[in-house]
Amino acid sequence: MLHGKRILLIVAGGIAAYKSLELVRRLRERGAAVRAVLTAAGSQFVTPLSLSALTEDKVYGELFSLTDESEMGHIRLSREADLIVIAPATADLLARMAQGRADDLASTVLLAADKPVLAAPAMNHRMWLHPATQANLELLAARGVGFVGPVEGDMACGEHGPGRMAEPHDIVAAVLDHFAASAPLAGRRALVTSGPTHEAIDPVRYVANRSSGRQGHAIAAALARAGAETVLITGPTHEPDPPGVAMRRIESAREMFAACRDTLPVDVAVCAAAVSDWRPAAEAGQKMKKNGGDAPEIAFVENPDILAGLSEPGNRRPALVIGFAAETESIVEHARAKRARKGCDWILANDVSQGTGTFGGEENTVHLVAAEDEEAWPRMTKTAVAERLVQRIAERLAGTA
Ligand code: C5P
Repeated sequence: MLHGKRILLIVAGGIAAYKSLELVRRLRERGAAVRAVLTAAGSQFVTPLSLSALTEDKVYGELFSLTDESEMGHIRLSREADLIVIAPATADLLARMAQGRADDLASTVLLAADKPVLAAPAMNHRMWLHPATQANLELLAARGVGFVGPVEGDMACGEHGPGRMAEPHDIVAAVLDHFAASAPLAGRRALVTSGPTHEAIDPVRYVANRSSGRQGHAIAAALARAGAETVLITGPTHEPDPPGVAMRRIESAREMFAACRDTLPVDVAVCAAAVSDWRPAAEAGQKMKKNGGDAPEIAFVENPDILAGLSEPGNRRPALVIGFAAETESIVEHARAKRARKGCDWILANDVSQGTGTFGGEENTVHLVAAEDEEAWPRMTKTAVAERLVQRIAERLAGTA
């Protein structure tokens, strides 16, 4: 299925362009959102109106159209897609891609793209077999462009040979294969805790901390992108909900623990929340009043340790339990001790000493401490930390049922 996937379809000029209309229907039937770019030559074969009706979106064609550029620049067109599909990919467009030209909207989008590209070539068989086209294909394949087809058959020009565009269902199959390969955690379940907890003193006051939830939310987003069914159990934060993630909003540590237990079984649990270590022993039923200048004494009791709880042996223990350690000195030694104490599999230790800006910042410096090995990661954005962690998780779970 392609639910939540965004495909940018580039339709170049060839008789096979009429099949791109059916391709849009088949991609959308499977849940994908499709946005189309139509080249000038492509618009000789299909109209912007039919593509627009089938995509239920605007069709983009002009590089220098002021309205297109103000609403949706050519850079954003590719940024907002998960995959770019070119169908039909003509000999001319492949040649322009190979050369890195940017002389119309389609080629400019392709040059500016940071997304995977899947091309379905379609052309006369002599054009296909020409050494110039074959050299372009080799170059594009070496740069990571994927190809589906062409197939052998009768051509619109009356000749026979390789060069017919793959059928829409074969292009859809190639799109599905692409997403299956980029979803190493498909079929896995994951839970992530994120953000601070709020521990009530009375109905209006609470004890909390400065956690932004940025790292935990980024991990949940990366797990979902890798295909895991992901539940994010979060304390109050200002972070937007990551796409494709089931949200469970809680306030206190005890609520977070209960939500985690409800979410089991999972294959992997990542505890990135800054759980309050203590909570007021008793929550006052009414707002506490100033009492003739006497400040109240608040007694605290310890909160449950969620990471340690999830790590306890038992048949509901996740195959992989990962915790964080915020340290200001002797980072790796403290992380090793914490891993042993909590019973989890991995600790991601980060340096939160003054001046690192880790708390609430965009970047993190992480050491991965596992029983079997340790890795020092370079300083990188929290999104990059999340991507790298998810890659490690996929590698580790690849060997398990
Ligand atoms: O013991 P410390 O708070 O340093 O441990 C940090 C790790 O333990 C983090 O992964 C945090 O999410 C987790 N933790 C927890 N429940 C607590 C305290 C910490 O899950 N009560």
